[in-house]
Amino acid sequence: MSILNESQFAGIIPFEKKLWLSSPTMHGEEQKWVDDAIQTNWVSTVGANINEVEKQIAEYVGVKYAVALSAGTAALHLATKLAGEKLYGQARTNEGTLAGRKVFCSDVTFDASINPVAYEDGEAVFIDTEYDTWNMCPKALEKAFEIYPDVKLIVVAHLYGTPGKMEEIKAIADRYGALIVEDAAESLGARYKLNGEWVETGALGNYNCISFNGNKIITGSAGGMFLTNSKEDADKVRKWSTQSREAAPWYQHEEVGYNYRMSNIVAGVVRGQIPHLDEHIAQKKAIYERYKKAFSDLPVKMNPFDTEKSEPNFWLSCMIINEDAMASMVRGEQDYLYKHESGKSSPQEILDALAAFNAEGRPIWKPMHMQPIYRTHAFITAEGNGRGRSNAYIAGSGADVGADIFRRGLCLPSDNKMTLEQQDIVIEIIKKCFQ
Ligand SMILES: Cc1ncc(COP(=O)(O)O)c(C=O)c1O
Repeated sequence: MSILNESQFAGIIPFEKKLWLSSPTMHGEEQKWVDDAIQTNWVSTVGANINEVEKQIAEYVGVKYAVALSAGTAALHLATKLAGEKLYGQARTNEGTLAGRKVFCSDVTFDASINPVAYEDGEAVFIDTEYDTWNMCPKALEKAFEIYPDVKLIVVAHLYGTPGKMEEIKAIADRYGALIVEDAAESLGARYKLNGEWVETGALGNYNCISFNGNKIITGSAGGMFLTNSKEDADKVRKWSTQSREAAPWYQHEEVGYNYRMSNIVAGVVRGQIPHLDEHIAQKKAIYERYKKAFSDLPVKMNPFDTEKSEPNFWLSCMIINEDAMASMVRGEQDYLYKHESGKSSPQEILDALAAFNAEGRPIWKPMHMQPIYRTHAFITAEGNGRGRSNAYIAGSGADVGADIFRRGLCLPSDNKMTLEQQDIVIEIIKKCFQ
C-alpha cells in the first residue's frame, strides 16, 4: 500500500512543487554581476567579481586573505596539501605530501572533507563524534594522540552549520604540535566563542575552507574558498590553483598544478549572494526554532549546539529520535527495511513519508569509518581503539556515537523559502509517523 493511502496521513495533500532540503535562493543582484562579467568580457578565471568576493568574504570571516576556488573540495585539497608540505616538506612530483602519514579526521561528515587526505597519499584515522554538537569528540581526539602520538594534522568539520568544540580541539592540537585544516563548508556565518572572543568558523584552523555549492547557505552554483591570515599560504594556493605557472615567458613548471580557480561568472553569483548571508541565516534559524517548538511533545531532539559558546548558521535542521522511541529499522549497504510501531518511528520511515508527500529529507552523513572505502582505516572513540571491540563471550560498551547518530538521526527539509504553511505540513507528516 502506498504511504499516501495509509490512514494516519488521511487529508494531507502532497506538495505540488518539491520541498527541498536546501536549495539555492536567488535575489536578483546575482544576475547583475553575471551580466557585468559578460558585458565587460571578463568570462574567465580572472575578473572584478573574483577580486570582490575574495575581499568581502575575507572581511566577513575576519581573515586577511581569501582565495576563490572552483569548489570547497578544491579548497580542502589545497589546504590539506599545504598542511602536508608545511609538516613534512615538498613531496616528489608523483607523490602526495602526506605519503605514509596518518591524519586525524572528523568521522560524521561528507567525504569531501577527508578525501583530500587520500589525494595526498595520507591515511585518515577517524575520530568519533560527541553528542553535544555532533562534531569531533575532543576526548576521542585525546585518545587518538595517546595511540598515535606522532600525528601532526587534524581535519575538522562543523556539521550542518554547528561549530564543534574548537577550544578543546585547538588546545589538544597545540599540546601535540598539530595543525588544523578547518572544513567550514557547511558553516559559513556560524560563530564560536574561542577563549572568550567570538570568531567566525573559517577562521578557526591553520588552513580554512568554505563552500558555495548549490545547497549551501549562500551559493555560486558551485565554488569554494581557502581562507588564511598568511600571505605566503594564500599566494601558494593561488599559484597551485592556476596550474603552478612560473614567471617565465613560456609555461614553466617547478611544481604540480591544478585548474582549481573560481570562474568570474560563478563569482558574480556569489557576489550577489553575500549581502543576503545574514538574512539566510535568520531564515534558517527561524525554521530550526519552529521545528524545535513543534516537536517538543515528540520523543525526539533537534541537532544540539552550545548556546553559550556558539551561534550556528542553522544550515540544516536535523532531529534525533530517542532510543526508546526507535522503531525497528535495518540498513544494508544500499537498501533498508523498517517496521511501523505505534508511538515510535525511524529515520527511514520519516524520510519515506516526507518523500511520498514530495518533501526532501536526508539521512545523517554516514560515518566515514563505516564507509566501504575507509573500512580498513583506524577509528578512535573516547574509549580508545574503536575497531575489533566486539566479543562473542564478553559484553563491552562498544560506544560508537557517530553510528548511533546516523542510526537515529535525519536531516529535515530546511529550505529558506519554505513557507510557514509548508513547514506545518512537514511537522504534521512527522508527527503522524509517531502515531
Ligand atoms: C562538510 C563538507 N565538506 C566539503 C564539502 C565540499 O564542498 P563542494 O561541494 O563545494 O566541493 C561539502 C559540501 O558539498 C560539505 O558539506
